[in-house]
Amino acid sequence: MAATRRDVIKGTAVAAAAFATQVAGAADGDGRLAVALIGCGGMGRGHLERLVKRSDVRVTHVCDVDDARLAAARKIVADAGMPDPHATADMREVLSDQGLQAVWIATPDHWHGPAAILAAEAGKHVYVEKPCAHNVREGRLMIEAARRNKVVMQVGTQSRSAPVIRSAIERLRAGAIGEVLVAKAWNSQRRGSIGHALPGDPPAGLHYDHWVGPAAWQPYQQNLLPGVWRFWRNFGCGDIGNDGVHEIDIARWGLGVTTHPDTVAGLGGKYAVDDDQQFPDTQYCVAEWPGADGPRKQLVFEQRDWSPYVQEGHENGNAFYGTKGMLVLGKRSGWQLYGERNKLIEQEQGNVDIGPHHDDFLACIRRGATAGDPGDRPHADIEEGHRSAVFVHLANIACCLRRTVTFDSTRERIGGDAEADGMLRRAYREEHWAVPRGV
Ligand SMILES: NC(=O)c1ccc[n+]([C@@H]2O[C@H](COP(=O)([O-])OP(=O)(O)OC[C@H]3O[C@@H](n4cnc5c(N)ncnc54)[C@H](O)[C@@H]3O)[C@@H](O)[C@H]2O)c1
Repeated sequence: MAATRRDVIKGTAVAAAAFATQVAGAADGDGRLAVALIGCGGMGRGHLERLVKRSDVRVTHVCDVDDARLAAARKIVADAGMPDPHATADMREVLSDQGLQAVWIATPDHWHGPAAILAAEAGKHVYVEKPCAHNVREGRLMIEAARRNKVVMQVGTQSRSAPVIRSAIERLRAGAIGEVLVAKAWNSQRRGSIGHALPGDPPAGLHYDHWVGPAAWQPYQQNLLPGVWRFWRNFGCGDIGNDGVHEIDIARWGLGVTTHPDTVAGLGGKYAVDDDQQFPDTQYCVAEWPGADGPRKQLVFEQRDWSPYVQEGHENGNAFYGTKGMLVLGKRSGWQLYGERNKLIEQEQGNVDIGPHHDDFLACIRRGATAGDPGDRPHADIEEGHRSAVFVHLANIACCLRRTVTFDSTRERIGGDAEADGMLRRAYREEHWAVPRGV
């Protein structure tokens, strides 16, 4: 039977008492950073398997609201020969440990902002998965929390640290294809249906109350989780915010834009599946950036989540169109640079791995890169992650409303359209402890 709210609170109190006796052992004297994982699902497990192999960190806490996933994470740490980590369903127990220095957050999107802000306020450095926030307002509050508390906040867009992607961007910056005026990002793959379901009891061992957390309350149903929550507006941002945001981030980086777009248009819908998903399986969005110091620039995003074939050689990829040539890039294979009349000028093979992104985050912590100095930030600093997530949110708003939105980059508001502007924020569960201040 499902745990009741009272069970959860009672369980939390018991765990907190046990925790009080264990915290002292959390800090270590061997120079390793004490780190925690919050959210031990598909991606969290990927992080954990990397972290336990490192000689510069010790995983002192694991946190998940699913008992089976929590136990599996604890076992990964134990199997690697590290001391038994504190394991809990309540992230507050993790964040209150004075000895803890950094936290990896790999929860569903609706928890990213609230958890990262709580972690920053507790003085922890934060590695938070992409898209950095469920909505525009939370992303802004995350930047403010990171700067106010002088903590490093890295977003899980690991391409930013991948040598093969960095070398492509270097070519673009050096003018190898002339002026890059347009970038394209595509997410073209085949995903299944999540079907239809009705509300029911959460499975035993899932603390669903904690899972929903500060989001507006929504009863459990079987096709909400795991993983597929990303197709529900209350919890995720659609596949554009899932796989798409990686390519959008690379596209923005290659375009060299350092503000938000001022105009975003989009169309799309559920062309291929009939299920409970609340986001488009087919989506086309185009954004324009102002040309204050140069020409206007454009980013085009395409998504077809029903494609049993790759596009331009890559399942998910990017193309950069310059005045003298073109560069085509895929995270799993590398890039090709073409000159006039499609002459292949240079190419590089390689793929993207999360190891260098972990290295970058930990190096920033060790060298004290915490002042938010623009010249000394992690490769996927929260401000960069926020800009890429804002594209996602604006594209989703434009597609949902089927109209073009005009964005004020400085105020982070949509002008002249109250309905669209209202979608930059979300509804919360009343008086939940994790609702960020200022939303
Ligand atoms: N960087 C990448 O390449 C990459 C790849 C896949 C997923 N991701 C990101 O990782 C995140 C997780 O995705 P996933 O596919 O692993 O989803 P998932 O559903 O498999 O895992 C999420 C986990 O978080 C747990 N969780 C939920 N609420 C929690 C809470 N309050 N406290 C602690 N744990 C909680 C869930 O029980 C679950 O185990 C998403 O933001 C996703 O976008 C990133």
